[in-house]
Amino acid sequence: MPPLPLYLQIADQYQRIIHAGGLKRGDRFPSIRHIMQTQQVSMSTAVQACHVLEDWGLLRAKPRAGYFVENTDAHQPVASGLRPAANDTTAKPQQDLSQRYDGLHQFISEWMAKAEQYPVSIDFMTAVAAPRSYPTAQLNRAAASVLRQHPDILTTFARRYGHPKLRTVLARRSAERGMTLQAGDLTITHGCIEALNLALRAVCSKGDVVAVESPTFYGVLQALEAQGLQPLEIPTSAEHGLSLDALEMALDSQQPPVRAVICMPTLHNPLGCSMSDANKEALVALCRRYQVPLIEDDIYAQTSAEHVHSKPAKAWDSDGSVIYCSSLNKILAPGLRLGWMAAGRWQARVEMLKYSQSRYLDELGQLTAATFMDSQAYDRYLARFQARLQQLRQRAVQAIAQHFGNQVQMLDPTGGMMLWLRLPDHVPALQLSQLALEQGVLTSPGPMFSSKPRMAHFLRMSFGAVSEEQIEQGIAILAECMARLAAAPTSH
Ligand SMILES: Cc1ncc(COP(=O)(O)O)c(C=O)c1O
Repeated sequence: MPPLPLYLQIADQYQRIIHAGGLKRGDRFPSIRHIMQTQQVSMSTAVQACHVLEDWGLLRAKPRAGYFVENTDAHQPVASGLRPAANDTTAKPQQDLSQRYDGLHQFISEWMAKAEQYPVSIDFMTAVAAPRSYPTAQLNRAAASVLRQHPDILTTFARRYGHPKLRTVLARRSAERGMTLQAGDLTITHGCIEALNLALRAVCSKGDVVAVESPTFYGVLQALEAQGLQPLEIPTSAEHGLSLDALEMALDSQQPPVRAVICMPTLHNPLGCSMSDANKEALVALCRRYQVPLIEDDIYAQTSAEHVHSKPAKAWDSDGSVIYCSSLNKILAPGLRLGWMAAGRWQARVEMLKYSQSRYLDELGQLTAATFMDSQAYDRYLARFQARLQQLRQRAVQAIAQHFGNQVQMLDPTGGMMLWLRLPDHVPALQLSQLALEQGVLTSPGPMFSSKPRMAHFLRMSFGAVSEEQIEQGIAILAECMARLAAAPTSH
């Protein structure tokens, strides 16, 4: 018989210690660093061993505190901890071609498909603002003026890499945030999601490991899965964002090595937290030291007056090793689907990939956005937009405090359009989301934000697309559903 993988040997060793009484229920479990040092293994092996013990019911992860012994009775045959290697296609069940994604993130498509089966009256899932919060009339006027000035715009071949006017405006506005970019440094994309996908294709090959925050935006996990890349989840706290210590350990010891890092340093989705300037600078320096490209997703910074002039990590990029990705879909016009990226030293490769993948974007939308963003009216609009989101955020925070009391924990973020809630231990997010969906309230259950079974008791609520009344009603319904689950914990 082939020897057991190292992580299983370690998990089994700790299982024996727990059963022998060496570690009791409630005891703090040795840290990942301790396991790495004492067992002389990489961080991913130590982390995998802990995940197996967690899956076996022997450990429980407490956010920001580490692992604790949970159940000293559970006994598992070691082979039950075997996980198929990411590239081991023989171990996969036969793929159902009707699935939209395979592997772990089939779950996301299933949840989205389920949401479509119910009449949703309160949408706490979609992370955009309501149409009335955007400058509809001003954009319509700008579009009409573009059509008047360029009557053949719809029948003329679009320019490469984006319209020069939009690239110029975006480059000028990025200087307000400490980035030194020229129009030629930018590529216009189909939303931030295309920018992230292009960035990954430019720097990774199938099977590569990519470090991501944990939890992270589920679209990142889908993009990785679609490209055959493996996420390595790095602990990320609601106070400080991505753990630089853990990232350094991963860059130092992970085998196969980390090929890229994806990070949301400002207004992280779903946590809502931001890294300090010092940490952003240290993140760029760390990735540079290990010569690993940093892919920065900066889509939410301008949803907040507090962050509108904050520096992205890209501002500390002196050698083109940060690939900056953003979009106008959250802050200006979700219907335009315009994104953009500054790929630094990978710019030429990204342009080639973009051309081969999807050619160029229509110019009516680009010129419409550029015309409006070139005016001071844009700054006035942005201030109103940020104030509106802040109002909704305050209302959501108040309603959660009123309806849930201290039963849920949350960070009150300084911007963005979402809240990340920790539910009580007896309330699985998936069951709560299902019950709420049956009442017409759509939320995003925590498991969507990790490729590991770690976020079972978290819930993300977006509040940008709803009214104050809907916030009030929706949170009351969620609290009611939670009370029902608490009263009959096994009935769902
Ligand atoms: C963090 C983050 N990055 C990227 C995206 C995708 O952006 P876009 O809609 O511009 O493609 C989203 C959308 O929700 C997001 O939350």
